[in-house]
Amino acid sequence: MRHMRFRACFIVAIMVAVTARGEDQPIIQYGDRFHPQIGYGGMVVSQEALASQVGADILAQGGNAVDAAVATGFALAVTLPQAGNIGGGGFMMIHLAEAGRTLALDYREMAPGAAHRDLFLDDQGRADPQKSRFSALSSGVPGTVAGLVHAQHKYGRLGLEAVMAPAIRLAEEGFRVDFPLYWSLKRARERLSRHPAAREYFLAADGSAPETGTLWRQPDLARTLKRIAGTAGRDFYEGETARLIVEEMSRQGGLITLQDLKNYQVFERHPVSGTYRGYEVVSMPPPSSGGVHLVQMLNILEGWDLASLGHNSAAYLHRLVEAMRRAYADRSQYLGDPDFVDVPVMALTDKSYAATLRRHISLDKATPSSEVAPGLAVPKEGRQTTHFATWDEDGNVVSNTYTLNFSYGNGIAVSGAGFLLNNEMDDFSAKPGVPNAYGLIGAEANAIEPRKRPLSSMTPAIVLKDGQPVLATGSPGGSRIITAVLQMVLNHIDFDMNLAEATAAPRVHHQWLPDEVSVEKGISPDTVKLLEAMGHKVEITPWVIGRTQSLSREDDVFLGVTDFRWPGGAAVSPR
Ligand code: DON
Repeated sequence: MRHMRFRACFIVAIMVAVTARGEDQPIIQYGDRFHPQIGYGGMVVSQEALASQVGADILAQGGNAVDAAVATGFALAVTLPQAGNIGGGGFMMIHLAEAGRTLALDYREMAPGAAHRDLFLDDQGRADPQKSRFSALSSGVPGTVAGLVHAQHKYGRLGLEAVMAPAIRLAEEGFRVDFPLYWSLKRARERLSRHPAAREYFLAADGSAPETGTLWRQPDLARTLKRIAGTAGRDFYEGETARLIVEEMSRQGGLITLQDLKNYQVFERHPVSGTYRGYEVVSMPPPSSGGVHLVQMLNILEGWDLASLGHNSAAYLHRLVEAMRRAYADRSQYLGDPDFVDVPVMALTDKSYAATLRRHISLDKATPSSEVAPGLAVPKEGRQTTHFATWDEDGNVVSNTYTLNFSYGNGIAVSGAGFLLNNEMDDFSAKPGVPNAYGLIGAEANAIEPRKRPLSSMTPAIVLKDGQPVLATGSPGGSRIITAVLQMVLNHIDFDMNLAEATAAPRVHHQWLPDEVSVEKGISPDTVKLLEAMGHKVEITPWVIGRTQSLSREDDVFLGVTDFRWPGGAAVSPR
């Protein structure tokens, strides 16, 4: 069965046909866009085609999956300014084939030393979203440069200068603005025009978005990237770029100091892992909530034969939603930066805890969220983001999600340095019970403290079978990331879908509060009626949920699928 689908996929790939780009063609040429789903010699998938191509070129030059990921990460900072970044942070899962292990790299932003728990409250004690989302106070100390440099230095094969060269070239020589970039800049015009440097870097002289086809050069960003490449990243934290960031902070009233930048630390953490129907699912531990709740929901769902219920049937979606509701209730209470609070990872990902939760799920009616308190049974111990993945011939795999939080972060660019800053501080709980931009509420565990990392939902994941990776996936989408990744895993394992089917299948989301199920338009109205009859409040979302980027491999054939319901992404292989 899988084989037949595989063959169908292959024929489609031939039809969308792709020839590898010859050495003589410049990377910056407009129209250089391919969307192969099948390739050889490794594969790279990301939300932006030029950046995927950069990664594939690095594989062709003999780089491994980590080199390709770092090259793609820096390239996205140039070609996908809404989410690709050097002013933000993220998480990278790295599977090392030879060592047979997977590690979790944490390069999440850190709160500046002068941050404090009431940072975003006004004088009446109310949370002020303007401060936490759009002011310079919203920026955490960026971790992307430290994270990418760390990964390359420790696990890459080529030098940092070699893997950063394509990004520098894209910034220096420029590339043509395509429709997705034009559309995105147009939507962000208002925010970007509030700050002089952002206006200068990202908008045309008359304040409009640069037209499709415009050659877009970013000379300040090119110089910043060169300094980073030439100093193994130190410039960003201690040199000229650090100085420019701090100057911007003092102009805009932000908190980040030279000392904060110097103190920034990357951590290698033990991934959260779980088993699911004979597969191993490995993802990001705290300060992400992604891995914990992905495994927790899979544990709950493992107790039912989902395949027999039928994909996206009301009976299936009901179980999914009830699992989501319970996981997000726990998230609100227990999850935070593990360097500051004890997160009961073992308890939350324990199969017997999941069994207890499952027992309380009625199979024919919704449990109102008001009746689901966080962690009742936990044993005592305890809007643009982007995902990309790379896979090399030796079996090394990288699954990486990084972000500025919102598209274009807080819209504040560092003057002279050419890049935007994040507004990740809004991912903290500004005040207990007050939702953040994604409607997520938090408590003590995610309160603001100096040098703490805000809780994240980013869920870069790798699924293994008998120790061999079979799927790398992840998504943007704020609170919806974890449930989008969950559904990719379920579609692949329970419903035996190929990557394209798994990506295209309509998704649902529930996050405990608000007590409503978001469903994509592709879920049948009959199903919606059945869910409503069970007591679910259903909201049809105008957007698709998440934007997954996924890779898998069968023998020497690599398969890659960008969420083609959004334009601009591509899976590219060296051959
Ligand atoms: O770390 C998080 O969970 C959020 N800052 C992610 C934001 C996001 O995915 C926005 N994208 N759609």
